[in-house]
Amino acid sequence: MKILLLGNGGRESALARVIHKSKQTEKLYISPGNPSTEAWGENVDLEGFEQISSFCEKESIDILVVGPEQPLVEGITDYINQNNHRTIVIGANKQGAQLEGSKDFAKNFMFKYNIPTARYQTFSSSTIKEAKSFLSTLNAPYVLKADGLAAGKGVVILPNLSEAEKELDAMLLDAKFGKASNKVVIEEFLSGVECSVFVLTDGKHYVILPEAKDYKKVGQNDTGLNTGGMGSVSPVPFCNESFLSKVEQRIIKPTIQGLQEEGIDYKGFIFFGLMNVEGEPYVIEYNVRMGDPESESVFARWDSDIVEAFLMVGKGELDKYLLEINSQTATTVMLCSGGYPLDYEKGKEIFGLDKVDNSTIIYHAGTKYSENKKIVTSGGRVLAVTCLGNNMQEALNKCYSEIEKIHFDKMYYRKDIGKDLEA
Ligand code: AMP
Ligand code: GLY
Repeated sequence: MKILLLGNGGRESALARVIHKSKQTEKLYISPGNPSTEAWGENVDLEGFEQISSFCEKESIDILVVGPEQPLVEGITDYINQNNHRTIVIGANKQGAQLEGSKDFAKNFMFKYNIPTARYQTFSSSTIKEAKSFLSTLNAPYVLKADGLAAGKGVVILPNLSEAEKELDAMLLDAKFGKASNKVVIEEFLSGVECSVFVLTDGKHYVILPEAKDYKKVGQNDTGLNTGGMGSVSPVPFCNESFLSKVEQRIIKPTIQGLQEEGIDYKGFIFFGLMNVEGEPYVIEYNVRMGDPESESVFARWDSDIVEAFLMVGKGELDKYLLEINSQTATTVMLCSGGYPLDYEKGKEIFGLDKVDNSTIIYHAGTKYSENKKIVTSGGRVLAVTCLGNNMQEALNKCYSEIEKIHFDKMYYRKDIGKDLEA
């Protein structure tokens, strides 16, 4: 099979590695990819739907895998399906991508199909008065969400009513997140522990991937600003059989059923961002892509042939797929540029990558080649270091000892990934 994968982050590095492992893969292209994806395929530089579509045509691409949400929300799947009949697209169409592209759409969907989520209402600038009176019926803290995509920054949690009202004005009246905050979802705060559950679906059938926990805050012990994710662990000890069976019955099944009832032909990944509230799962958000840095841990445990799963998605026969998951624990620690998620410097040379053990996976997330062909930093999240172990502690010990070998100026990482999950 000839496969084209879109994206350039840690998630796509993880996908590239597992696609490369498949016996079915004859050729893998990654656009634009990064220095680590070169180990698993050929990086190409395609811009815009038209270039991607003509590349699929010219290179007889069998499967297009879309890593990030933006092109999905913009309708790349519909475009390719209209123009390239032979290419199977792994990624939601425009209608399905609304699950992530519009918080209002997602909340309506969950209420319609009785999927547990926080109580909410949606407002625009013309209903700001009603928004403030709804706020006053809730208890602190207050959760405000820009309706549209806002580069992961559109959720704001405020400790008191006056700050919540100020934020609401900024979002609705001053377009704090541009068009994305034309509408704002206000919802009840859910208190619990978060985890991420993923499925791959052909629209009717699904396979449940291993769950993961992500560490979103920049500082030790979950303090400081939110980031894209500072590390991950899979499996998650508190996601026991009973919890996961509630997730499947109350959340996954009604979601797939609901998509069918809405006439949405969804072929791709769904990421359920969940809150475990005293053993009961609630959906915090849907994403129409895999998580990052969850993918780095989840795909490190994927032992079966992923391309076969993609082919079955194409045929609508995913029920025939046998997912084999490594029973070991995978842990990922993100090495970041000092200062991230605020301002940080780029272009720092990365040392020690050649000293890392063969069994350790180094996924690049924000790197590039400098003019003199050295690997340098080019983003806030730079490298994901992933290790497997017989238990979480073993995997983490390995990660942290491997990290000792890597260095770049102002490198920063959290030293407490997984600590909260220790027995
Ligand atoms: P999102 O961008 O939707 O993932 O939201 C960002 C983060 O805000 C989530 O990972 C949660 O930590 C938090 N969050 C979102 N909605 C709620 C809620 N209703 N209650 C508590 N925390 C929330
Ligand atoms: N790690 C959370 C996300 O990918 O959105």
